[in-house]
Amino acid sequence: MKKVEKKLIIANWKMSLNYSDSISLAKKLKISLKKSKSKNDILILPDFLSLVRVAEILKNTKILLGSQDLAPFSLGAYSGEVSLESLQEVSCSYVLIGHSERRKYFNDNFLIADKMKNVFDNSNIVPILCVGETWAEKKSGKTLKIIEQQLKTAFSKALKLKNRQIVIAYEPVWAIGSGKAVELDDAIIVHKKIKEIIFKNLKTKNVQVLYGGSVNLENYEKFKNQEYIDGLLMGGSSLNANNFIKIANNF
Ligand code: PGA
Repeated sequence: MKKVEKKLIIANWKMSLNYSDSISLAKKLKISLKKSKSKNDILILPDFLSLVRVAEILKNTKILLGSQDLAPFSLGAYSGEVSLESLQEVSCSYVLIGHSERRKYFNDNFLIADKMKNVFDNSNIVPILCVGETWAEKKSGKTLKIIEQQLKTAFSKALKLKNRQIVIAYEPVWAIGSGKAVELDDAIIVHKKIKEIIFKNLKTKNVQVLYGGSVNLENYEKFKNQEYIDGLLMGGSSLNANNFIKIANNF
């Protein structure tokens, strides 16, 4: 399968920052970026509330913007949700779907297929679907089975795919925020399998598979120049502008 040359490096700010800290981090990123010439795509996922202001700050830079979630349905009576329509208006070109924290704390497993369908049917936004196994699943040798199941469920309602761009983030649940990233050999097996499943079931090669889970300055290089690893998704390490841009530039 063809190697994707341009990598996608994502900062997932989660709910780690309040509004003013998000704005200040966006400003720092703009400064760090000025001194860098990254060939890679850099994508920031702030919380919903700071999206608009962060978009203004990063306007005229090459940083891309996305959201950490979206509503499963189009505009309507869904209190507390944020619509795909609004996200498009504020320059979001990507949206994260099915992060393990959403699956765990917000019962998202049941909404992921509808969220994917909403994105594919009603926008040109690129979905970043997160998949990953728990520690118990890994230990009992179920990783590939779980990943395959998560992929099948996520795409079960998305029928209008054509040749749409798709991003899959392999994020082992046990690796997220634990300080312990996956072994490279294990990551390669999973990434290769994800590409095979997507190709077999969706007939598209327009997919990037990223790794996420405790990526930091000390370990990111092991994932570099690997055929099946098309980028990184970072949580904790994305909260320091200089470190994040350094990883993004060197990957
Ligand atoms: P982490 O988070 O880099 O802090 O482990 C990654 C993620 O959950 O996206």
